[in-house]
Amino acid sequence: MMPIARAQGALLFDPEERSYIDGISSWYTAVYGHCHPELIGAVRSQMETLDQVVFSGFTHRPAVQLAEQLLAVLPGDMSKVFYSDNGSTATEIGIKMALQYHFNRGEKRSVLLAFEEGFHGDTFGAMSVSGLSVYNGPFEDFFLKVKRIPVPTAENKQEVLKMAEQLLQEHAVAGFIYEPLVQGAAGMKIYDASALDQLLGMMQAEEVICIADEVMTGFGKTGSLFASSQLQHTPEIICLSKALSAGWCLWRRRPAAKKYTRPFTRTKSPKGFSTGILIPRTPWPVRRLAKLGTLAKQ
Ligand SMILES: Cc1ncc(COP(=O)(O)O)c(C=O)c1O
Repeated sequence: MMPIARAQGALLFDPEERSYIDGISSWYTAVYGHCHPELIGAVRSQMETLDQVVFSGFTHRPAVQLAEQLLAVLPGDMSKVFYSDNGSTATEIGIKMALQYHFNRGEKRSVLLAFEEGFHGDTFGAMSVSGLSVYNGPFEDFFLKVKRIPVPTAENKQEVLKMAEQLLQEHAVAGFIYEPLVQGAAGMKIYDASALDQLLGMMQAEEVICIADEVMTGFGKTGSLFASSQLQHTPEIICLSKALSAGWCLWRRRPAAKKYTRPFTRTKSPKGFSTGILIPRTPWPVRRLAKLGTLAKQ
């Protein structure tokens, strides 16, 4: 383990003041540079005004502002924002919402579709839809029902599309989760965007909820603000984290498309979406301000 004493911009410094370039941006999070004065100022001023208030029955201006700003720049017709902790809980909640969407409509769908070699986090749902690896191997017995397909390339595109079509016929698929355009943890594996678009079209024709995991790709990593903006078919759910937080506080946000939110909002409260995961950590307005600061820099 390398001890780090301080950081500034793109550099990390050890206790002897030797500097190192943070080339991985502390896993894609510190994209605005470490110890950014604007973010420090925003967090300090927010902490002096309102440190936190629980979202259960309360809200606050920074949270509303951030949601509005994000909805304005996200692809598709996103209409709702759900705040939580980090990248893993973003995808976890995305998965839960996809499953509950069908439950609320009175349809039993319990299978999820995902790409081989994908990485979606370390909670159980997220591990279930990630590629099989030494990290999640010990937990496989407890996974959700998942069918995996290879990422489409120029060579296997037709085969993958056929495979997906067959899985849709054979299983009650509730949701399809994917890292759009590039699989980060798989080694920045770029794959065929047009085939992904076709897959999304195929899924949406069957009312399969498409969950774009933009935890890594979000905020400019692929040339556009969001990788999903480069596709014709936009997802029902987008998971964000990493750059949105500048790595400061655990943070994630999951916006959902208008059409998708109806079964949650038009029904009585037992069908409303809730989760026990996020309550203790979500109320920090300081995070919202930090995010507002980072967004303002786009
Ligand atoms: C695409 C993707 N999804 C989800 C996650 C999980 O995020 P976190 O580490 O914040 O839980 C990661 C983490 O690297 C990721 O790259």
